[in-house]
Amino acid sequence: METPIDVVIMAAGKGTRMKSALPKVLHRLGGRALLAHVINCAARLSARQAVVIIGHGAMEVEAACARRTGAAGTLDQTIGLKFALQEPQLGTGHAVQQALPLLPDDGVTLVLSGDVPLTQPATLQALLALCGGQRLALLTLELADPTGYGRIVRAQGFGSEPMRAGAAASAQVRAIIEHKDASDAQREIHEIYSGIMAVPTRLLRGWLARLDDKNAQGEYYLTDIVKFAVADGVAVVAHQITDAAQVAGVNSPVQLAELERVYQRRQATALMEQGVRLADPARLDVRGALLCGQDVEIDVNCLFEGRVSLGDRVRIGANCVIANASIAAGAVILPFTHIEGEALGVQIGEGALVGPFSRLRPGASLGAEVHIGNFVEVKNSTLAKGAKANHLAYLGDATVGERVNYGAGSITANYDGANKHRTVIEADVHIGSNCVLVAPVTIGAGGTVGAGSTISKNTPAGALSLARGKQVSLEGWTRPVKKAKV
Ligand code: UD1
Ligand code: CA
Repeated sequence: METPIDVVIMAAGKGTRMKSALPKVLHRLGGRALLAHVINCAARLSARQAVVIIGHGAMEVEAACARRTGAAGTLDQTIGLKFALQEPQLGTGHAVQQALPLLPDDGVTLVLSGDVPLTQPATLQALLALCGGQRLALLTLELADPTGYGRIVRAQGFGSEPMRAGAAASAQVRAIIEHKDASDAQREIHEIYSGIMAVPTRLLRGWLARLDDKNAQGEYYLTDIVKFAVADGVAVVAHQITDAAQVAGVNSPVQLAELERVYQRRQATALMEQGVRLADPARLDVRGALLCGQDVEIDVNCLFEGRVSLGDRVRIGANCVIANASIAAGAVILPFTHIEGEALGVQIGEGALVGPFSRLRPGASLGAEVHIGNFVEVKNSTLAKGAKANHLAYLGDATVGERVNYGAGSITANYDGANKHRTVIEADVHIGSNCVLVAPVTIGAGGTVGAGSTISKNTPAGALSLARGKQVSLEGWTRPVKKAKV
């Protein structure tokens, strides 16, 4: 039987270098909290539970996790979340000690950090496999500049000359020595501890009880359990990876921005591997989930947020911002279009043409082959197949029938200052330019509304409806002239 996995996520630290009032682990990467990335990764490992060690900003962090859709971002999968308060923060060993009452002895504890967002589940699977429910498994990495990190001290290298990488990686791990406690010779070691380990919980419990704070930082180091494992004859194994981004932590805005770029590049690569054609993978940002069909093309500087799906052959022009929308096959979104679906979402039908410079707001639902042009705003409105609003218009709380043509400059006056009302425009209606449709109002099928009309009463089907001042022309009229000054 597989050993159950319990994940411990250390997130009690202050994050002073972020210089922010927001707890560090709630800062966002790819649109979701750093901590949400770590929790998601744990969920993908089918861990039995995740215990988050909280301290600085504990209430805020716990509340964000409880919201799930809030600052912590949505989770892809569900996982049992628990919290353990660490107050004061006396080191990483002390942090894990706080979780112990929540960790059953039959499991393996996987230690992660809430500020390390890009670890791949496959990497952790490999580490867990190496642990095998009985060994102490460390995730390690060779760094050109290992300053500040805990060094992996191996058998032949202990206190003597460092060895070549290949030779070192095969020798027995004896200890992890923190940078501040390391001798000059140990500081020459380039293999570092990533901060991630997998350890059988019953062994961890015994080792944590033996920690002390007699070291350069006066802290309880989790890393000291390595020497106890060695003393107890428990095998210590290292899983060395080469991809530094997977174990990189966020300590400052600069590091956050660097990891954001790594994350975005990875998403762009994954999309291209699925066949999506990106004009420039460096000029795409996905903050959420972007699902694409076949032969999708995305031009430069596009931002996708929340859940966005693009059907086959969809083309997105340059500089579009698209959030929470579903765009059906063959639709084309021209440059500078802003789509903000929020909770209600935005639906765009097959072959629709939107933009440039269009704005679709929550609840906009466009049928097949609908055209929405420049400076047209659509909110909470349904447009049936083939309807068009091509220029400078507003459709709010409207139901628009098939083949309706909605003229330039026309608006639905949907708000009376207190309540919103609906406008119904039946099929084949032609609304002239610069009309005001004062809701609630229905324009009967096949009708025409003359340009410049303010329509406040329902109009019959098939009629021409006009509601504007009659045109008057005074023939031979002479303009007033300026009086001569005396
Ligand atoms: C730790 C490791 C070091 C490793 C490095 C990798 C120890 C003693 N050292 O060092 O070997 O190379 O990570 O980045 O473990 N935290 C708490 N409570 C505490 C202290 C820390 O929750 O009392 C959390 C922090 O918020 C952070 C994580 O634990 O998320 C790591 O702490 P940090 O101070 O960054 O560890 P390092 O000293 O860098
Ligand atoms: Ca650190």
